[in-house]
Amino acid sequence: MNESIRCPFGTTPSGEQVEQLTLSNGILTCRLLTFGATLRSLVVPDKDGRPVDVILGYDTLEEYRTQDGYLGAVVGRFANRIAGGRFTLNGREYTLAVNNGPNHLHGGLVGFSYQVWAVEELTADRAVLSLVSPDGQEGYPGTLRVRVTYRLEGSALSIRYEAETDRDTPCNLTNHSYFNLAGQGSGPVLDQEIALHASQYTPADGTSIPLGVLEPVSGTPMDLTRPTPIGAHLDEPFPQLELGHGYDHNFVIDGPIGQLRPAAWARCAATGIVMETETTLPGVQFYTANFLEPGRKGKGDAVYGPRHAFCLETQFFPDSPNQPGFPSCILRAGGRYDHTTCYRFSIAE
Ligand code: BGC
Repeated sequence: MNESIRCPFGTTPSGEQVEQLTLSNGILTCRLLTFGATLRSLVVPDKDGRPVDVILGYDTLEEYRTQDGYLGAVVGRFANRIAGGRFTLNGREYTLAVNNGPNHLHGGLVGFSYQVWAVEELTADRAVLSLVSPDGQEGYPGTLRVRVTYRLEGSALSIRYEAETDRDTPCNLTNHSYFNLAGQGSGPVLDQEIALHASQYTPADGTSIPLGVLEPVSGTPMDLTRPTPIGAHLDEPFPQLELGHGYDHNFVIDGPIGQLRPAAWARCAATGIVMETETTLPGVQFYTANFLEPGRKGKGDAVYGPRHAFCLETQFFPDSPNQPGFPSCILRAGGRYDHTTCYRFSIAE
């Protein structure tokens, strides 16, 4: 390996140094940024052994700082939306920034994706990044101490999210990588196949806030329980798809919360790359990059646009602080948040 495992990646306007960390285990190579604990690239061998970078990203810190697509970033304190930027906890109402129509999205104006994380540990195949979110940051209660561990394990990348708080708080951490199994910059993913281990999803209103019910996917274009080309039903006149401009929905992963279990499967015929996603979390936001800005320049010569990638954001359900029927996202003072998501790669038979 001739690339330095730790190198500078620019300086923020307030003078914070950002670094790029490279992990490699002879099968997978990934690049991380301390800005946003971002996954900047993930290089996977294709069916002919050629390296393919399956993650969208940018070349400069400036682009990461000014983007609003959260490319590759760790999202927190609460991934996805909280209705009206308000919730009540232990009898007290909290008010958060409203940064997505009428709602709070992805932790607010300066969520975890836009902060510089500390490097706690770094080896060839493992990096531990940490962040302290002070009491009241973005309106959330309690000092939250967060650790994210990226680890290459054979042909898998695992991401472990740990957190502790000194006051009860919502906590919902995810990674917002945009995957394209034909290679980043190769255009739309409509012919790549997806399967979700989800027999239910949470339908949402026109601002993407769940209606509070779990609905069976069966008999609708939300039924992705068998391998289906991503583009097969995307533009069908199904109200939920019209409201989301494509898939942008939380799917309820089958099986027990807290156990690492299959969440998704994806395959690209051209490269032969298969990606299986496993998680301990209750849900996954399957998002077909509907709002990627058309013509936006990405890494190298790449040009991105809507549907040039898909996201599998493992998570507590959107708006769960306001939805008593959903699994609770409240981390209690003195308790421990400990969730893992794993992306496993192989070649199609
Ligand atoms: C949301 C989308 C949003 C995207 C980028 C996804 O998690 O569900 O609606 O456009 O993140 O912010």
